This record gives sequence, C-alpha cells and structure tokens, in this order.
Amino acid sequence: MIIKGKPRLPGDKSISHRAAIFAAMVEGETKIDNFSQSADCASTLRCLGQLGVLIEANGPKVVVTGVGKSGFREASEPLDCGNSGTTMRLLSGLLAGQNCTSVLDGDLSLRSRPMKRVQTPLELMGATVETTDGNAPLKITGRQRLNAIEYKPPVASAQIKSCVLLAGLNADGNTKVIEPVTTRDHTERMLAYFGANIERNDDTISISGESILPAKHINVPCDVSAAAFFITAAACLPGSEIVMENVGLNPSRTSFIDVARNLGVDIEVSDITDVSGEPVGTIMVRGGVSKANENGNKIGGGIIANLIDEIPILAILGTQLEGGIEVRDAGELRAKESDRIAAVVKNLDKMGADVEEFPDGFRVGRSHLKGAEVDSFGDHRIAMAFGIASLFADGETRIIDMECADVSFPGFFQELQRISQ
Ligand code: S3P
Repeated sequence: MIIKGKPRLPGDKSISHRAAIFAAMVEGETKIDNFSQSADCASTLRCLGQLGVLIEANGPKVVVTGVGKSGFREASEPLDCGNSGTTMRLLSGLLAGQNCTSVLDGDLSLRSRPMKRVQTPLELMGATVETTDGNAPLKITGRQRLNAIEYKPPVASAQIKSCVLLAGLNADGNTKVIEPVTTRDHTERMLAYFGANIERNDDTISISGESILPAKHINVPCDVSAAAFFITAAACLPGSEIVMENVGLNPSRTSFIDVARNLGVDIEVSDITDVSGEPVGTIMVRGGVSKANENGNKIGGGIIANLIDEIPILAILGTQLEGGIEVRDAGELRAKESDRIAAVVKNLDKMGADVEEFPDGFRVGRSHLKGAEVDSFGDHRIAMAFGIASLFADGETRIIDMECADVSFPGFFQELQRISQ
C-alpha cells in the first residue's frame, strides 16, 4: 500500500481555541477562517456561548462578536469542556478576571487531569478556585481586577502559560510568566496580532493589564500535529508521495519535522509565508526512510515540549527505523487525554513490537508489526497513531473506539482511505 496526493487537514486546534477565546475578549466582530471542526474546539465555542458571546459558526467559517475583556456573563449551567484540556485551562484564566462564579467540568478523561497547575497561579492573582482533589469540576469566583504576578510554572505547559497571560489581561500592572522550557507560543503571537501589549525577553513573557484588543480577521493554518500522522504514513510506505499546503509551521510546533528528517524521512518544507502572525507553508514527503543520523534515535530534554503531541506517532515511526527510537523526559505524556506512555507501550506490545516502558518514556526497536485488537483508550491521538500502524501491520487491526479521532480530526480515517492506493 502507498499514500498519494494531498491529504486535507483540519484547521490547527491550538490556534482555533485561541482565536475563539481572544475574539470573545475583544469588542466587535472577528471573522475566523479555517476554524478547526474538532469536538474540542466545538467545546470552546459552546462554553463561550454560555458566557454570553454571540457566535455564528458555518463550518470552518466562524464569526465571534466579542464582549470585551471583562464583559462575560455568569453561565446558568456548568461549562462542559468535554475532552478538552485547552478549553478548561484557558477559560480558567479568562474567568478568573470576571465578576462572576463559573463551574468548569468535563468528561471522565478531563476530570482525571491535573488542574492544581492553574489553581495555584490564579489564586495568587486573587481569584478563588476550588477543585475536586486537584481535578475538575473547578469552581472559579473571579474578580474584575486581579493582581499582576510573576510566575514560573512547575511544568513546561503552554496551557498554564496561556491561562496566566489571559488572567493578566485583567490584572493591574504587568503579569510575567517565566518558562522553564519554551512551549508553543500561539497565545503570545495572537495577542500581539490583536494589538495587546505583550513582549518576550529570553524566557520571560510579560503582558500589560492595560492592553486593549481591537477586532481583527484571523486565518487559521492547517494543523501540523495532524500532518504528523500523514508524514509518518508516507515515510513508512515506500513509494508514497504527499503534499500538504497551508500548514502551520510555527517553530514551537515543528520539532517533529526536524526529528523525522534527522531519522531519515524525506521531507521538504517550502513556500513559507506569514498568515495572521503565524508562519505557514507547504510540506512534501516522499516515502521510505533512509538510515538515521547518529544519535538521532534518542529523543529527550528540552525538545519534548515542542513535539509532546506527536510522541505517539513518533513511536509508530520508530517501529520502522533501523535503530528504533527511545523517548525520555516525557513524563507529562501520562497526564494527557490518556496515559500515552502506557497506551503506546500496551498497544505496540499487542502488535508484537519490541517495546520497553520507562517512567518518563519508552524504547521501541525496529519491529515487524502484526494486526491485533488495540485500544484507543478514548484518546484521539492514540486512535490515529494506531490507524497509521495498521497500514503496515500484517493482517487486520481493530481499534476500540476509533471514533474518538473526532476530538481533533473529524474524518481522519476517511481521509486516510481517500489517499490510500
Ligand atoms: C496545548 C498545549 C499542550 C498540548 C495540547 C494543546 C495548547 O498541552 O499537549 O494538546 O493548545 O496550549 P500542555 O500545555 O498541557 O503541555
């Protein structure tokens, strides 16, 4: 089997969440194009609607009429964030600066994910945040003016950073976040694009509570994390050739491309332009993997935050590489939509791979995969990663609850089928 052609990718999920949330905070109408059709971004739109924001969604075209930085109304029901950690953590920052009380809840997966990481900074800023033993449901009683703080998150997380910066928009003075490791910077870029007073100096991002946000049109690039699944499929199926246009190429998101190239994947990136403050371009992949560069098969340290969402699919790529792959320093993967280290190891083991689990990662050797019944564990990225693995496994693979791919990429399996030959 090979894949050929132009896979159609959804709008970037991280950027779509931010586009909707920031547009809700401006005064006036913001038009968003190529908005992600994912279940996660639908959760964000739904919650914003409950908070009094007028939203007209017509497929990927969304128009948001903002209520201003502190004009959100109290929701009559708990805000259901579904499966989406980004929705819950970013909205927490927004709601801390509103004169109302909000309850944020989610599905069983989201209820098991750590929320103390947003509770701590928001309480330092003067909001009252109650968790359920450190998890959702969260109850946030906000204040119209918060205290500006200087905060160093204990874990590298763009969601914590964004939560604090959003609260900082309603704080007196300059709020600062000091990043232990650089994480995706869509929040900083988009707030700057909207005209906020935000700047970065080395590892410190500073935002002024005086920032005023005028409405602006946003064009969302296609999701590079979704592209990673097709990059891997093409790499592992010699003879494949794919082109993906208008893909987000923000350097804080593209380490997967660098790592894959270093591992011998034939990837070309071209036509880079700036769209709504984000670099966008074309990715072309030719099938087959050549011998990896020396030491290319050990991934760890500061790069992990940049490719955190791509690690499940990196594991699948690893099964087809001469030296396999070893991932370390990735303990955060255990706090995602599922315990992604356990999920990857368990499923690869079922498919007959040579795989070993570590507290902070895994090692997988080059393996001939056999079809098996694997579990998505309700996690979209696990479902899609094993959908790709099934393409070069012998025999049939069944993925339990593969529909959960809709959380980030509705129609993923149909798209894969469309470009398969
Ligand atoms: C995201 C940040 C990352 C990532 C998630 C999306 C974001 O989470 O895993 O899929 O949009 O800010 P953390 O901030 O928890 O690392």
